[in-house]
Amino acid sequence: MIKRAVPEGENIVRVLVIHGPNMNMLGRREPEIYGRTGLEEINSRLAEAAERLGATIKTFQSNIEGEIVTAIQQAADWADALVINPAAFTHYSIAIRDAIAAVSLPAVEVHLSNIAAREEFRHVSVIAPACVGQIAGFGPMSYILGLEAVVSHVQTSDAGEDQKKERRNEKDGGNR
Ligand code: DQA
Repeated sequence: MIKRAVPEGENIVRVLVIHGPNMNMLGRREPEIYGRTGLEEINSRLAEAAERLGATIKTFQSNIEGEIVTAIQQAADWADALVINPAAFTHYSIAIRDAIAAVSLPAVEVHLSNIAAREEFRHVSVIAPACVGQIAGFGPMSYILGLEAVVSHVQTSDAGEDQKKERRNEKDGGNR
């Protein structure tokens, strides 16, 4: 289910935050690697950060690749940017990478753990090339840093601003 954290408004950057498979288990899942903070707490910290940054977020978690692809496709109708922790899909989902490329929304990939310092199969991200950048290794703070990065990217890049206006015009019939 997609949850809206703060109300929409003029000039607010709209971000979809996506959590991949097993992220619903955070807090209980391998706490020595992922810590003891649960997903709800991460989402509420993100909502607080969004308010401070002049952004609005929706959060979405799924264990199913196709649902994540669909959420990304639907985000093209309303969002300005994506923050995504693709979890295990990071390392092999060409479908998620293609969805990000297809919607051409700026995306930041985030990870709680430092994937570069873990098993070799985690060193490769097939998603990263479709993203503006990647933040890994800071626990729940990776999400906050990812949100800050993508909001700043949208606010400061001409391309981001233009795309934002274009999307709003398409959606609102040019009323903004
Ligand atoms: C993760 C790292 C991935 O390798 C792993 O499959 C996850 C979580 C992280 O946030 O550190 O599920 O994305």
